[in-house]
Amino acid sequence: MSILTTTFVPTQPHPTNNAPHNVWHELPKLSRHELRVEQQRTLDTPRRRYSLAARLLFIGMDLLYGRSRSLSKFRVLEIVARVPYQTWETITYKQITKRHRRPLDIRRLWDRVLEFRTQQDNEQWHLLILAELVALQRRNEAKGRENRIWYDVLPRLIAFGYWHFAWLLYALKPSWSHRLNADFEDHAEHEYALLVAEHPEWETTPYASDLAADYGSFASLADLFRQIGHDERLHKQESEQHLIAV
Ligand SMILES: [Fe+2]
Ligand SMILES: [Fe+2]
Repeated sequence: MSILTTTFVPTQPHPTNNAPHNVWHELPKLSRHELRVEQQRTLDTPRRRYSLAARLLFIGMDLLYGRSRSLSKFRVLEIVARVPYQTWETITYKQITKRHRRPLDIRRLWDRVLEFRTQQDNEQWHLLILAELVALQRRNEAKGRENRIWYDVLPRLIAFGYWHFAWLLYALKPSWSHRLNADFEDHAEHEYALLVAEHPEWETTPYASDLAADYGSFASLADLFRQIGHDERLHKQESEQHLIAV
């Protein structure tokens, strides 16, 4: 009998059938009211107790790009933000290769790949939005292009170093890498909430972008950044879930 005509019924249950969370990890878009509530919740919530590595990273970013919350600095942060998800995805694919005879393991690892990829893609939207806004802001203020060394070369070097550091942490002990990322995302969540609070004029600044239309539509620039801040909180919570799981 040809294998193509054989009815094949797998006997092993899907490992995530009873999982309490959505394995596809889609991030929700909030209403105007919800966005305001969640921004306030962030402002009222103390930050995580950051690890030494995270504190050094934040101090380094402040030294290089200043303590004030500029769009240019957020663009650099978003370049770096995707990196841990890329390393985790790569390592998880290697784990799938290693366990190629174990369908249950492959399925479980594949769900993990999907989670990392979803977060990575979400960060990609943040980067696109920030890149567009920075270009627009500089054009409006007739400032010309940002310094190439500082805002093109250096972020790539930081991302390169961070990639290897996150990879090493994950290879040694995944919870170390997840903890560093939870700190990074918590920092991002709070920084976006403060950024919106510092710019009351953004409440009435309309936001529209053809390039970012797939990400969502927002009544104002303030709501756009509130949504990005909420995404960061969900990224943090995903990493915290991995801390509980290990
Ligand atoms: Fe982000
Ligand atoms: Fe994030």
